[in-house]
Amino acid sequence: MRILGIESSCDETAAAVIEDGRQVLSSVVASQLDTHGKYGGVVPELASREHLRAIVPVVREALAQSGTTLADLAAIAVTMGPGLVGSLLVGVTYAKALSFARDIPLVGVNHIEGHIHAVMLETGGVELPAVALVVSGGHTHLFEVGSGHSYRLLGKTRDDAAGEAFDKVAKLLGFGYPGGPVIDRLAPYGDPRAVRFTLAKMKGNSLDFSFSGLKTAVLRWVEAHDMSDEIAGRQALLRQAARPDTEQWLAVTPQRTLDLLASFQRTVIDELLRRTAVAIEATGARSAIISGGVACNSGLRTAAQSAQLSCPVYFPSPGLSTDNAAMIAAAAFSKLERGETSGWDLAAKASLPLC
Ligand code: KG4
Ligand code: ZN
Repeated sequence: MRILGIESSCDETAAAVIEDGRQVLSSVVASQLDTHGKYGGVVPELASREHLRAIVPVVREALAQSGTTLADLAAIAVTMGPGLVGSLLVGVTYAKALSFARDIPLVGVNHIEGHIHAVMLETGGVELPAVALVVSGGHTHLFEVGSGHSYRLLGKTRDDAAGEAFDKVAKLLGFGYPGGPVIDRLAPYGDPRAVRFTLAKMKGNSLDFSFSGLKTAVLRWVEAHDMSDEIAGRQALLRQAARPDTEQWLAVTPQRTLDLLASFQRTVIDELLRRTAVAIEATGARSAIISGGVACNSGLRTAAQSAQLSCPVYFPSPGLSTDNAAMIAAAAFSKLERGETSGWDLAAKASLPLC
């Protein structure tokens, strides 16, 4: 049973074909990094335009790579939200048109549910109940995942998402966009204990996150140390090379800044894993899933494996952690098994809670 997945919620146009809910036959991702990089973040109007350009070739490529024709498809799965509404509309409208024209069942999928399902593609399923930490540029959410893929929200960020904090800190320091991958590469060169950040105590739900205070603490640190020359040096490097390599970054980044990056990354990782551990204990979870773009972070992966959590922890491989369409098709497979399909009233929704 083959499902075509389509994802266009943010700045990646993606299509994938999966078989029987598990096997990824193709997964094509057209990134818009070159379009948005120079603006230091995603520009919604440009994102919609790029999706319009990419959607047809990306879907054709995913079908061709998997040797699939439209007649082979059991369903078309599409991200319906949350995300940028203009971006979502491109995927949803295209999926609806294809589904209508070829009489193929349509399944609308929540992007966050997709991130959770990415792990099912490689593990063949995890023991439930599970705790899922979805940590990306738009989300930092902890869920309990029950049988039948029921979800309960345990906690979420009250301000910035963890990936957003990576991106804002990187931008502030002149490392460009997206910030997560660059900080990940440079953090091992710094001392993670060099800068101590004091985090505000959270009132109310102890499983909620907050990263804006940490971002401000980095800003204060930058203001207290004269960094304008080195920041200008990195901005100049970015104008010469769109994606500088590690050596090039190291040449324009002094030790104290590497220490700052390492300390920032360690603080984010500690916050994520501390609450995940509490959530596991509180729910008696039998497995933990960490997914979303920030799940690519090598420091987070290493720390999670050595954190001695009381259950196994699963990460999707990096290509399935960031936005992709295989995860959307995987989530749709579970819905199809339960007989859930969408009607023509399927609409793109910028805010779409999972539960
Ligand atoms: O899941 P994703 O591709 O898109 C969203 O749904 O947001 O996540 C993108 C986010 C960006 O904020 C990016 O900086 C972050 O994930 N990211 C990372 C790493 N790779 C991507 N953050 C930390 N370390 C990484 N290696
Ligand atoms: Zn995402």
